[in-house]
Amino acid sequence: MKSQVKILASIAVLVASATAKSDFAPLPPTQDPWYTAPRDYESTQPGSILRLRVAPGNLTAVFNASSAAYNILFRTTNSLYQPSWAVTTLLIPSHVNAAANTSAGALLSYQIPYNSPNVDASPSYVLSSPDWGGSEPLNTDIQSALRAGWYVNIPDFESHTASFSNGVTEGNTVLDSIRAVLNPGFGLDSSTTRTALWGYSGGSLASEWAAELQRSYAPDLTIAGAALGGLVSNGTSVLAHASEQWWSGLLPGFLLGLTAEYPTARSYLLSQLKQSGQYNATKFLSVMNGTVEDAFVTFANQPIFSYFVDGSVSLDDPLITDLVNNNGQMGYHGIPQMPLYIYKAVRDEITPITDTDDLVKRYCEVGVNTLYERNTNAGHLAEETNGDASAFAWLNEVLGGTYSHSGCTIRDVFLNVTNSPQ
Ligand SMILES: *[C@@H]1O[C@H](CO)[C@@H](O)[C@H](O)[C@H]1NC(C)=O
Ligand SMILES: *[C@@H]1O[C@H](CO)[C@@H](O)[C@H](O)[C@H]1NC(C)=O
Ligand SMILES: *[C@@H]1O[C@H](CO)[C@@H](O)[C@H](O)[C@H]1NC(C)=O
Ligand SMILES: *[C@@H]1O[C@H](CO)[C@@H](O)[C@H](O)[C@H]1NC(C)=O
Ligand SMILES: *[C@@H]1O[C@H](CO)[C@@H](O)[C@H](O)[C@H]1NC(C)=O
Ligand SMILES: *[C@@H]1O[C@H](CO)[C@@H](O)[C@H](O)[C@H]1NC(C)=O
Ligand SMILES: *[C@@H]1O[C@H](CO)[C@@H](O)[C@H](O)[C@H]1NC(C)=O
Repeated sequence: MKSQVKILASIAVLVASATAKSDFAPLPPTQDPWYTAPRDYESTQPGSILRLRVAPGNLTAVFNASSAAYNILFRTTNSLYQPSWAVTTLLIPSHVNAAANTSAGALLSYQIPYNSPNVDASPSYVLSSPDWGGSEPLNTDIQSALRAGWYVNIPDFESHTASFSNGVTEGNTVLDSIRAVLNPGFGLDSSTTRTALWGYSGGSLASEWAAELQRSYAPDLTIAGAALGGLVSNGTSVLAHASEQWWSGLLPGFLLGLTAEYPTARSYLLSQLKQSGQYNATKFLSVMNGTVEDAFVTFANQPIFSYFVDGSVSLDDPLITDLVNNNGQMGYHGIPQMPLYIYKAVRDEITPITDTDDLVKRYCEVGVNTLYERNTNAGHLAEETNGDASAFAWLNEVLGGTYSHSGCTIRDVFLNVTNSPQ
């Protein structure tokens, strides 16, 4: 209680000096003592603010439509429903809610697909670290959102455990990050603010799980809508297709992230890695040190199951399959209560369109307000670009309070900003 009073006072002080620049260089989370939970944090409510600072680096210069940037360390709940903690970055728009027609505040929770079991790949660090060149369209999305007058919340949704691909951890963490930034100290009124979720690929994973879990885990939150691109509906089928692909490097991170909160499953996974030869444990575990971009390069087109003593059979053990089923299958943890915009390339090579067709069918059968656009052009990465403008326009209606679609609409579209096969 006392610490909460202290936190509220420090929000007030920080916000009052919102122009305070913090141009000290960011440190990787594993080397930055700020990334630790205070003693007894377990007894606080999920979403409680545990630590707060002006974000390091020149974030308001990188995102020049923002007037302030904060790092917030907050209480959350892991996939075993035990107390945990994570960090989010909140960007305050220079001109609040310029585009909307009402005085309601607008908050976009933007989930970046960082796809890594390495906590040092977390957005709160990477966004402001000197070697972050930004990537299209991620930077543009954040800038556009700020220019529209939206607050932008960018959670490290894999939490401090770096649980890449664990949907429960990611969903809970997104929801608690929203609770944290709706603290009145930051200027948003939690009773009138419209909140939307947006994510592509690994970012859609976190966003969709938040949408599913909201009813049970965060009934106090009202989410106005969720835009979900390149949806990873079925983890089993992503794993099954991961060998000899340009994106094979997702598999080591996927399995290490999935087992991050499960020591027994992690030990089993490690026991199945070959110790010698070209496809060995040292190489496999190198993803713990890098980013997903590094992993794509390292493992491109490799026979990725060759890292295991029994090939893909090593992954058929219930220690692994139970985790994939419980934390990697969308559509089983609750019915999204908010409108959904789902967009995906029909020829998505990472996550088959049929998996998402199945999910949408289930949601439509139980009355979820769904607009599903299947792009008949191009592949997974291309769709992030091709679908971007539609998603932004959809969010603009949702956050402006003018979205009027109801029921279930499924349609094919042809969007061709790029026709890259990937
Ligand atoms: C922030 O920007 C200022 C001036 O543009 C520069 O001097 C400083 O080194 C930058 N800090 C970081 C951490 O990049
Ligand atoms: C923000 O950055 C963009 C692109 O780098 C630039 O065109 C624009 O003038 C900048 N705006 C302000 C207010 O500095
Ligand atoms: C605001 O309302 C006007 C008139 O109803 C409409 O044309 C416009 O698109 C709305 N703007 C937004 C951002 O929703
Ligand atoms: C997920 O994909 C696997 C492999 O393609 C399939 O056997 C399974 O039935 C799918 N699960 C769900 C819940 O759709
Ligand atoms: C592991 O594999 C890499 C190449 O993938 C090789 O350079 C290294 O020597 C191997 N290590 C062992 C212990 O075999
Ligand atoms: C990560 O990098 C550190 C320092 O470069 C090295 O000591 C460690 O062995 C690496 N770990 C893995 C799993 O590659
Ligand atoms: C799609 O875009 C590509 C690249 O801009 C262009 O070469 C191609 O003609 C376009 N295809 C169609 C059917 O418009």
